[in-house]
Amino acid sequence: MLRLTGITKRFPGVVALDGVDLTLHAGVVHALTGENGSGKSTLARIAAGALAPDAGRIEVDGVARTLGSPKQALALGIVTITQEPMLAPTLSVAENLFIGRLPRRRMRGIHWTKLRADAREVLDRLRVHVDERRAVGQLSLELQQQVEIARAVSSPSRLLILDEATSSLSQATTSRLLEVVEHLRSRGVAVLMISHRLHELYGTASTATVLRDGRRVADVPLPSTPESELVRLMVGRELRDYYRKRAFEPGETVLAVEGLRSRDGMLRPTTLRVRRGEIVGVAGLAGSGKAELGLALGGAIPSEGSVRVHGRPADLSQPRAALASGIGFVPDDRKRAALLPTRSVAENFSVAWTGELTRAGLLDLRSERRRVAAAIERYDVLTASPQRRITALSGGNQQKVVLGRVFERDLDVLVLSEPTRGIDIGAKSEIYRLMQERAERGAAIIVISSEVAELLGIADRILVFFRGEVRGEFPAAGLEEEQVAHVAVSGVPRERAA
Ligand SMILES: Nc1ncnc2c1ncn2[C@@H]1O[C@H](COP(=O)(O)OP(=O)(O)OP(=O)(O)O)[C@@H](O)[C@H]1O
Ligand SMILES: [Mg+2]
Repeated sequence: MLRLTGITKRFPGVVALDGVDLTLHAGVVHALTGENGSGKSTLARIAAGALAPDAGRIEVDGVARTLGSPKQALALGIVTITQEPMLAPTLSVAENLFIGRLPRRRMRGIHWTKLRADAREVLDRLRVHVDERRAVGQLSLELQQQVEIARAVSSPSRLLILDEATSSLSQATTSRLLEVVEHLRSRGVAVLMISHRLHELYGTASTATVLRDGRRVADVPLPSTPESELVRLMVGRELRDYYRKRAFEPGETVLAVEGLRSRDGMLRPTTLRVRRGEIVGVAGLAGSGKAELGLALGGAIPSEGSVRVHGRPADLSQPRAALASGIGFVPDDRKRAALLPTRSVAENFSVAWTGELTRAGLLDLRSERRRVAAAIERYDVLTASPQRRITALSGGNQQKVVLGRVFERDLDVLVLSEPTRGIDIGAKSEIYRLMQERAERGAAIIVISSEVAELLGIADRILVFFRGEVRGEFPAAGLEEEQVAHVAVSGVPRERAA
């Protein structure tokens, strides 16, 4: 269906793709894997007509083409879903679903009744429970993603490109999307799928192309290639010690939360304590209140209740106040809250310590430059230069800056929401190591994650949220993923259910 040959793409200071070949067939799900910054999104954008290659050949159905624009690619039936919804916030759900192909009445503009009926049909078929008249900007991120998926899969397509489309979806929405993908595949659609969750690729794709530093290192058949082999191809070395367990010596209570609840009702009164050196994992489905726990502690949503850090009352009225109280928060939505998108990598790092460096009244440029260089090295950020705009980095590398910026401060409490989203398997273990290091140096850490395996690997204790409150609490050692899933789904610990 699509054949890319010898694709090369350079950006200032980097060769993002170097002579890459990729062939996609109708009715086949083809995975694209590689570390952060290896060139996956760049290749996907070239296949989607969003980016022109510097060299190479593109053939659609055996005919050489230039995919001049996403519109032209769309006309050829090439549809993309990415991690961040690209919807028009002020338009309704129905308009977003059919944007660019709105049903029209002769001479009289948009056929609103038909638009609504068509939208309803698509939403019902995909079991998206939302009023088609609502403005998209008013919906939760989860619903926006569902609308985005509905839009993509309802447009007539021959090639569907998923660039980390599942990385911020709940498990339920992920499996619904993967069902739809399988349905489209069986009807002859070609699929290109990028995901850092290897189990999703193994369950869905039949072949994988591995990129490393912009080069294609291998094409492998999927179910028959062991995961360890795939990872070795991606990172170029053996990866052991994935999670580094350490002996946890409980210290004094650092964070004491009592009756904390969010004003929107999603988080019901919650009481918990986190001790010095402890990592507490928080699990739960979408809408369980686990996200709101993070947002409330980070001062990002209005909340009530008592929160103390080392016995001192924390002010959670706004993010800056929470930070001043010693609570560092990394939200799961880096676009919304975490990055300074128009600034450089260096500037994004230096907000972590500017207070310190300017204390003398003057910014010490040399020590500033040295610290930025050290941070880029420590967090293994792939960037052509510290002056590069943060948004020019690959998704995973942006996430490393977001985390590094918080780790660089000497904070008593760290609250990390989906910290390894979009991070490749090699960089993940590095981030777990950094988390443990922060814990060992005395921080109390809360990790909120929808990946239970990750929580079991790094946390000392696991809390499971259900309908806004903690319904299960377990030491992580020896805990099975199923036990956590059981509480997350039913709200009842297994022992009591039996
Ligand atoms: N618009 C751009 N301007 C400059 N450099 C870019 C731009 N887009 C990508 N790059 C660079 O090209 C390289 C490949 O990036 P790409 O986004 O394709 O990686 P990726 O494999 O998708 O990584 P990730 O897993 O982190 O999403 C990186 O070094 C990145 O910094
Ligand atoms: Mg990418």
